[in-house]
This record gives sequence, C-alpha cells and structure tokens, in this order.
Amino acid sequence: MAEFARLVIDDKEYTLPVIEGSEGEKAIDIRSLRHESGYITFDPGFGNTGTCRSAITYMDGEKGILRYRGIPIEELAEHSTFVETAFLLITGKLPSRDELIRTSVLLNDYSLLHEDMRSFYQNFPRRAHPMGILSAMINALRSFYPELVDIDEELNKTFLRLISKIRTMAAMAYKISRGHRVIYPRPDYSYCANFLNMMFDNPVIPYHMDEDLERALNAFWILHADHEQNCSTTAVRVVGSGKVNIYAAISAGISALWGPLHGGANQAVVLMLEKIIHDGMDLDTVIARAKDKNDDFRLMGFGHRVYKTYDPRAKIMKKMCDIVLSKTRHEDPLLDVARELEERALTDEYFKEKNLYPNVDFYSGIVLRAMGIPTNMFTVMFAIGRLPGWIAQWKEDYADPEMKISRPRQIYTGATLNHYIPLSER
Ligand code: CMC
Repeated sequence: MAEFARLVIDDKEYTLPVIEGSEGEKAIDIRSLRHESGYITFDPGFGNTGTCRSAITYMDGEKGILRYRGIPIEELAEHSTFVETAFLLITGKLPSRDELIRTSVLLNDYSLLHEDMRSFYQNFPRRAHPMGILSAMINALRSFYPELVDIDEELNKTFLRLISKIRTMAAMAYKISRGHRVIYPRPDYSYCANFLNMMFDNPVIPYHMDEDLERALNAFWILHADHEQNCSTTAVRVVGSGKVNIYAAISAGISALWGPLHGGANQAVVLMLEKIIHDGMDLDTVIARAKDKNDDFRLMGFGHRVYKTYDPRAKIMKKMCDIVLSKTRHEDPLLDVARELEERALTDEYFKEKNLYPNVDFYSGIVLRAMGIPTNMFTVMFAIGRLPGWIAQWKEDYADPEMKISRPRQIYTGATLNHYIPLSER
C-alpha cells in the first residue's frame, strides 16, 4: 500500500499521508491540506469522508458484510441476545457469565422511571409522535441523573441506565397514548420479555410470554444495534464532540433517526405498502413513479449509501417475517405486496444499474406489525435497538485523543462585500 498520496495544485505538489484500516480500507489524511495549500475538500453528505477511526463495526457495502467487533451479524442474530450484543458493542468483548449476570441485575435496578417523569407524558398532545416524546424524555434524564462523571464505573452505570430506561419510556408512552394503565417492568423477566410484557399485558387479559417472539425481538434489536457512521450516529458524535452530556447527544441521535430517509423508513415502508393496497395501485406504476426524476416518490426501504448489494440485515429480516407471521398466525397482505415489489425492482434495469436493493427497513415493519407494535412506534423500536451503538460510538469518541470538536468548512456562495442601507432609503 502507498504510504503517501501526492496532490498537485498549480504545479505545487503536496504529500498527504495514507491511513489503512484493519480490513484494508484506505484513506488520504487531508488534515494539513488547508493549512499548506489554502484548499479544503468538498463532500456534501460526507459520502467520501472518514470522520474517525473506529474499532466497533465493520461494513463492506460491496460484499454485504456487517460485523460487530469482528463477529458476523448472522452469528449474533442467531445465537446472541440483545443485552449480550450491547455489552459486546460497548466494551469490545463478549461478557463472561458473571458480567452478564451483573449487567442484568443493573438493568433491572435501573428499569423504573422516576415518578416525576410520568407527569411529562400527560403534557404532550395525544397525537404527539413517540419519537419526539422519546428524544425529549431522554434529554430530560440528565436533570434527574446529573452525577455523570468520567470514570469508567459511573459511565457504565449511565450506559445501562439509558438502555434500561429507554425501554420503559417507550412502553409507557404507548400505554399512556392509549389511555391504558401503565405496566411496570418485572425483575423476573429478561430485557426483551419485559418490553413485550410492558407493551401488551393488561389487568384484564394477562400477556402470555412467547419464547419465539422474545427470541425474534432479540434478533430484531441485534440487527439494529450499530451501523457505523450513519446519520444518527454521526449526530451523536458531532453533538458529543462539543463535550455535551451523553443524554443530550443520544437525544440528538434519536431526532436524527426519526427522518424517513433514515430510521423513519420502516414506518414509511408500511405506509407505502398500505397505500398501494388501499388505492389498488399496480406495481408497474409504483416502480415507474420511483424512477421518475420529476416525482419525489421513492421506493421506501430500497437503496443505501453503503450497501451496493443486498443488505445482510434485510436478508435476516425477510426470513423473520415468515417466522413471526407463522407464530402469530397472522396473514399479512403487505408481505405479499412487499415480496412482489422486491421481485419487480430487482429485475428492473434502473434498480440494477443503481445497485438499489432492499435495506433493513423494507421488511422490518412487517415483522413489527406481526408482533402487534403500532406503526407510529416502529422508529422507536429502531431507536431502542440502536442505543448500544450510539453509546459505544459516543464512548469511543470521548476517549479518542485524536478527536476534536466537529466543525466542517464550507464554500461560501453568497453576496460579496455589501453595505447596510438605512430603511428610509430602501
Ligand atoms: N427509490 C428510487 N430511486 C432511488 C432510491 C429509492 N429508494 N434510492 C436511491 N435512488 C436513486 C437516486 O434517485 C439516485 O439517482 P440518480 O443517480 O439518478 O440521481 C441514485 O439512486 C443514488 O441515490 P442517492 O439518493 O444519491 O443515494 P444516497 O446514498 O444519498 O441515499 C438513501 C441513500 C438510503 C437515503 C436512499 O437510497 C433512499 O432515499 N432510500 C429510501 C429511504 C430508505 O429506505 N431509507 C432507509 C435506509 S436503511 C436504514 C438506515 O440505516 O438508515
């Protein structure tokens, strides 16, 4: 591999160091470029910009590879639990039996919400989107737990407090939005079982825990747990780089995830499939609209900045649809439309040429519907899953001596020097 790259501008040559990652990814280190040449680089959307060195998640978008701390996503989804995967992402290693028990004990200890926080829910309008509520509630946690200090033990408690409470907050938001009695977390249930119970138990019809659904929820959250420098993770890192508290940084991540081009796509996919069925649209028209440059309609759940082949998470999610639907004895016409739409898109020249494949969100909404999760909670489910990744990335950034406050440059295209004209002369 080359050690340096040479850049020639107006006959002057600049030598820029080359960096290589452990999987052979190469980068040109341009940190000295502006100082030495007066030039900056231009890369809207950071499509070609590395913003950090990271040892957490590896993706190969051409080959469809995703690994957390070196372990393939397929192995984790099949054999691990969400709590174990969270531990892996945050600490860098799989937990020992004792560490896992200790983690579960702390998750139980932290699972209740301060009763004063319950009153916050009453003051949001009934129709408020749960993502807006979640980001506000997470930010508010800082006021209740201000003791965060930068020693490992305290940090770990804060991480676990976040992971435990986000689940209680989400389930509580759902119950309160329906006007139902809130169900508190139970210490005898696992992380995922507790969530299902808090969502679906009620005083009249007790919820019967189903191990297969609990397993599916573990896999669902594992698939979402990290995805290197995506939009919401970058938001967490950028906001965190100002040395703000972790709750504020995570709250920023939740807000970033909400958008339909990012985590909000799972909700958008289901709304799109429902509209196709409701309006009786034929799929040729849907595909034609997605390709039409004058139409802002896009095939939601298709395409990805990094994956130029089938998203490995989508493959697992597609299989999960069958498992969860058969378990809940649920027949979902959306799945038939989704399958047919996928088949049409994958054989269409436009989608082939642009390497547009289903991403994780294409089938995830169908899995969530079958579990009984309401559509406006889909992105909240993504956020709960992504939390360990945000924490791991925040922690890495926090400890990295190379990191600086995020402060990109711009190419100014506005007016050149201009002068103030008094109101009377305008
Ligand atoms: N339907 C139709 N055309 C598309 C789609 C789509 N879903 N996605 C990309 N394209 C076209 C796009 O119009 C562009 O065409 P051209 O080169 O002629 O201008 C080309 O493909 C490249 O797309 P891009 O928007 O420049 O690519 P990007 O890397 O900036 O955007 C994306 C990636 C995910 C935002 C985009 O593919 C998209 O909007 N997909 C639909 C929303 C979605 O499913 N988002 C979830 C992403 S996975 C969950 C997560 O991790 O966030």
